[in-house]
Amino acid sequence: MKVSLSAAFIALSLGSTSVLAATLASRAACTTAVKLTGNAFSGRTLKAHSIYAAEVNAAVAALTDKSLATKAAKLASVGTFFWLDKISTIAKLDGLIKETSCNEILGIVIYDLPGRDCAAKASNGELAVGSLATYKTQYIDPIRKIIAANPNTALALVIEPDSLPNLVTNSNLTTCQQSADGYRQGVAYALQQLNLPNVVMYLDAGHGGWLGWDANLTPGAQELARAYTAAGKPAQLKGFSTNVAGWNAWIKIPGEFDVPPDGQFNKAQDENRYVNLFGAALASAGMPNHAIVDTGRNAVQGLRLAWGDWCNVNGAGFGVRPTSNTGNSLADAFVWVKPGGESDGTSDPSAARFDSFCGLADAFQPAPEAGTWNQAYFEMLVRNAVPSF
Ligand code: GLC
Repeated sequence: MKVSLSAAFIALSLGSTSVLAATLASRAACTTAVKLTGNAFSGRTLKAHSIYAAEVNAAVAALTDKSLATKAAKLASVGTFFWLDKISTIAKLDGLIKETSCNEILGIVIYDLPGRDCAAKASNGELAVGSLATYKTQYIDPIRKIIAANPNTALALVIEPDSLPNLVTNSNLTTCQQSADGYRQGVAYALQQLNLPNVVMYLDAGHGGWLGWDANLTPGAQELARAYTAAGKPAQLKGFSTNVAGWNAWIKIPGEFDVPPDGQFNKAQDENRYVNLFGAALASAGMPNHAIVDTGRNAVQGLRLAWGDWCNVNGAGFGVRPTSNTGNSLADAFVWVKPGGESDGTSDPSAARFDSFCGLADAFQPAPEAGTWNQAYFEMLVRNAVPSF
């Protein structure tokens, strides 16, 4: 900010317009409508938006360790997705779009399905099973309206983390059975309505330790492809998101869980292999198969007692910064989807949204409610970051 202002001041005082124009251009939306084709992350930086920056700045202010504070402050300029996790958060979307420049892409998570988080308790949502009409008219429709009114800004959407993967592997649970119709119809509606030229969408596919099992690849791909078809094959759906709020390494050979039975029946031992395997299954099922991978918290491996442990994993660190330089032509970008520092779920056993995974021996405790800032956890992520800050 300081740099830009002084550059503008110098430009003005010298009577030169070129420096000023360049300064303003790098801070403004595009001057014409954005039409995203190919890899939308190539040539664009994931937006480091003001809401996460404010969380980071507050965390930095609370730090007495000066050297850690200097490192932590750098997080404010790392691109991170914003989660539209309830209807009331939609009010923030227009402002976030307005602060996004022409050379940036704003990351948004669509996350409010009726009966949300059907296999866990920590992230149960505000909409009850059966509220599909509310999801459509009060959640998706207003989001579409705001994005359509801002055609000169690029957006990347992660569509409904965990939802369809839960239908593939947790259909034994009554809650997931009850949520199934609403998930399928809600996801299809989101894909159809948010299919705008300045948007790219990635439908969530869990992670390698979830749909990467031999027996899950085809049913998983078919479940996602059904939503794509039901939505009328939207052109702006580029493929799938993986490792959202997850912990898996991008490349790790042998894999962290490369022992029987995991290693025997699951070849997706890292997210790189998962992208290739699930990508191939998606192609067979007739859906676009490019991927984005959350590397926000995957710096440290060997922390989980079991592959499925998902809550506030203790010892984690910030991972590779967002980039379109992935080395895998199917992987459009490494992105930070889960805002590091925000909790995955409360560790208080008496809380209504307590999930036992958040009380496991490998889960950081104490931890506040999902989405709430956890200062100690954030500091740990900074300390353990790879590459370091
Ligand atoms: C969790 C929470 C959600 C939050 C998100 C990002 O899934 O349930 O409220 O926005 O994480 O921290």
